[in-house]
Amino acid sequence: MNRITAGRRHPLARYAVLLLALGLVGGFYTLLAPSSERADAAIASGRADDVAEGKKLFQQSCSSCHGLNAEGTAQGPTLVGVGAAAVDFQVSSGRMPLANPGAQAPRKPPAPWVNADTVRQLSAYIQSLGGGPTVPTDEQVDPAKGDKARGGELFRANCIQCHNFVGAGGALTQGKYAPPLHEASPKQIYEAMITGPQAMPVFNDSIITPDEKRDMIAYIVGVREEPNPGGAGLGRIGPVTEGLVAWIAGISLLVLAAIWITAKKRQAHQ
Ligand code: HEC
Ligand code: HEC
Repeated sequence: MNRITAGRRHPLARYAVLLLALGLVGGFYTLLAPSSERADAAIASGRADDVAEGKKLFQQSCSSCHGLNAEGTAQGPTLVGVGAAAVDFQVSSGRMPLANPGAQAPRKPPAPWVNADTVRQLSAYIQSLGGGPTVPTDEQVDPAKGDKARGGELFRANCIQCHNFVGAGGALTQGKYAPPLHEASPKQIYEAMITGPQAMPVFNDSIITPDEKRDMIAYIVGVREEPNPGGAGLGRIGPVTEGLVAWIAGISLLVLAAIWITAKKRQAHQ
């Protein structure tokens, strides 16, 4: 009898085999099952049952374009990995569910079934599929905690090439446009930056830190509240444009006056 067959008869052998089998099953399970990181992310962005509810809502209202498991179809991109923040932004601003495919999904009044609960559930479901940026906390987007002046500088450096000086919007190529920023909520402003909807670039936290994002929110929301002093708006960007307009208008007047004077003189000489 060799040593292995002898060992098999040992009273503890049975348990050893059982332990080995359990170990193998466990090992395979962790290899095959979705990573627990994703499940944690789902729980972080909502309650666990939100995921199940969100999946139902998704299959009713979104799967015709985004696929039964959000894998994407010819009518809409995959949503695996876009994150809860993208869903919260798109659905709360009425962009999704999209009604008519066009150059751009516009902001519109949200569908009647859209509310804080259904948006949270849909977001949790998409977050559970592949992670991605999560919805910011109220604290992170509180305009009262931001520095307007610093936000204004950051806004001018990063956003005005598309959104105009006070966020009044502007045209881009191919029928796309950067919308005015009068209506977006502080949360939507933050989410637009971290998800980069459509033609807008993503401003992740290494480009603009969360604190700087809050400063920009304070600026964008603050500009809305400033009373309009009347007269021509001139983009409402302050002394530089006003000076430019005064300069151009003033110089033009002087030029006209000079032409008028020389014309008079010429008449007098004749
Ligand atoms: C009629 C088709 C259609 C329906 C229905 C629809 N979508 Fe979309 N969705 C689109 C298209 C097309 C885009 C891409 C828009 C673009 O980038 O130009 C999109 C984009 C998105 C994005 C942005 C993805 C990203 O990369 O940031 C999210 C999030 C989203 N949809 C969520 C939803 C949810 C949630 C629903 C259901 C409530 C839904 N959509 C219903 C067509 C649809
Ligand atoms: C390259 C051009 C571009 C730049 C730069 C840009 N955006 Fe946008 N932005 C867009 C476009 C295009 C949309 C519309 C996307 C859509 O409708 O899905 C948009 C949408 C938004 C919205 C949503 C508005 C609404 O009413 O729902 C917000 C908020 C926003 N941008 C904020 C910003 C901020 C803040 C910055 C600077 C950090 C910025 N954007 C920089 C092009 C740009």
